[in-house]
Amino acid sequence: MFRHTYHLTPPSGWMNDPNGFCFFNGKYHLFYQHNPFAPKWGKMYWGHATSDDLVVWEHHEIALKPDTFWENFLGCFSGSAVEFKNELNLLYTGFSLRGQFQLRAFSKDGYHYAKNKLPVIGPRDLPPGGGSLHFRDPKVFIKGNDFYCLLGGRFKDRKLKQKGSQISLYSSTDLNSWKFIGILLRDDVTEDGIFECPDYACIDGKDVLFASPMFYKNNNLHDFENLHPVVYIPGSLDHKKGIFLPDFSGNEKYFELDGGTDFYASQSMTSPDGRIILTAWMQMWKRTMPTAVEGWAGAMIFPRELTYENGSLLQNPVREIEKYRRNPVLIKNHTFEKSISFEGVKGSICDIEIKIDLLNSSVFGIKFFQGALDNLICASLQYDRNTNELTFDRSNTVVKIQSLHKKETQNSIRTTELFLNNNTLHLRILLDRSSIEIFAQNGLKTITSLVYNNDMDDGIEFFCDKSSRVIELYKYDIIV
Ligand code: FRU
Repeated sequence: MFRHTYHLTPPSGWMNDPNGFCFFNGKYHLFYQHNPFAPKWGKMYWGHATSDDLVVWEHHEIALKPDTFWENFLGCFSGSAVEFKNELNLLYTGFSLRGQFQLRAFSKDGYHYAKNKLPVIGPRDLPPGGGSLHFRDPKVFIKGNDFYCLLGGRFKDRKLKQKGSQISLYSSTDLNSWKFIGILLRDDVTEDGIFECPDYACIDGKDVLFASPMFYKNNNLHDFENLHPVVYIPGSLDHKKGIFLPDFSGNEKYFELDGGTDFYASQSMTSPDGRIILTAWMQMWKRTMPTAVEGWAGAMIFPRELTYENGSLLQNPVREIEKYRRNPVLIKNHTFEKSISFEGVKGSICDIEIKIDLLNSSVFGIKFFQGALDNLICASLQYDRNTNELTFDRSNTVVKIQSLHKKETQNSIRTTELFLNNNTLHLRILLDRSSIEIFAQNGLKTITSLVYNNDMDDGIEFFCDKSSRVIELYKYDIIV
């Protein structure tokens, strides 16, 4: 009932972080943290799916099973993939009773893996101040002829009485022996935990570091409302010296990658045509999972193309979705007062693009998944020009999600700061049965959230406090 159609979900059981996102032998490969036995977290396996176009996915046999000493406690944790000598290599964290170490598996066909006997970054290779209890999520990338690897972990300096989390950089020429190069980031913004799933990409010439800091300390009015956000830091990387210089200082250097309720552990890759593509887990830790009754839990976001333009990171859905657009509806130059629903503009599996002139209105918004019987049942998005806030609200939906951590006071309303562009607001919205992904002002801000309503709740209504003009509105069904 809640299962997405063009978002990757596990065939059954549990899915969390995307792993090993890459293009190998003519296909996109996406692995993921997986518990095949139940729709809840457990000892970790790597599930595996491939795609020709990032939209339609084919499931394969499990790629990694926890069957060695190095994985004997909690299994095969997150990691990444890289091609070397015509083989696909997976670098990942094994969680053993002795701690977390970095392991390597390799495959000629991309489907069947053999494993190195020993860790490639082991107990003797810990970074300064690091420990093996929290040292994980290797992300490999290539610069010149060498491989580089980011790792997230704790740091503790007894003399300086400092502790926190850090991202360290290693390099290698053969993926087997790795040399510590430097610490790219060290901070105490993670209250309890580490920078999980570090990532790096050079986007239109700009170096960007990504990470998922657990329990990020929040001192920002609009952002960071989840317990664990994904942050990105624009800056410059000196990979030879192992130094990352952020463009901004202090807490200002952290930008939230997505302002919705369900987005974590992102991972990027480069497509054959040179685009930086990002995926992420479309869920959040410590919440109830309404899909568990259907035998599955967890999904991936719809993959995004990242660009860096005029000093801003932009995220937009990969263009491949356009191939699956059906039944177009176009509304042009339509001024309305208070509220309106357009003939044909409804659905819960669709792609919508709207450009709106707010005219004299302070507030403009859209209701989604509106109840067929009760139109107060819906999720809503609202822009307020007085506060420059874009607010997403899922509190009036049928199935509520419970927060299971005392620090999360609510999980239904999220805001982000946004400015109009000559009085206009541009929104691109993807709905997929129980998910909504919003790309505002050409992808400058994004909001990703899960919404659990009745099957037939597919109404879409536009509202404002005075009058507004729809400059252009497209709606397509997405049929895969
Ligand atoms: C992030 C994370 C990773 C870890 C994996 C375990 O969501 O906690 O740090 O490798 O999930 O499933």
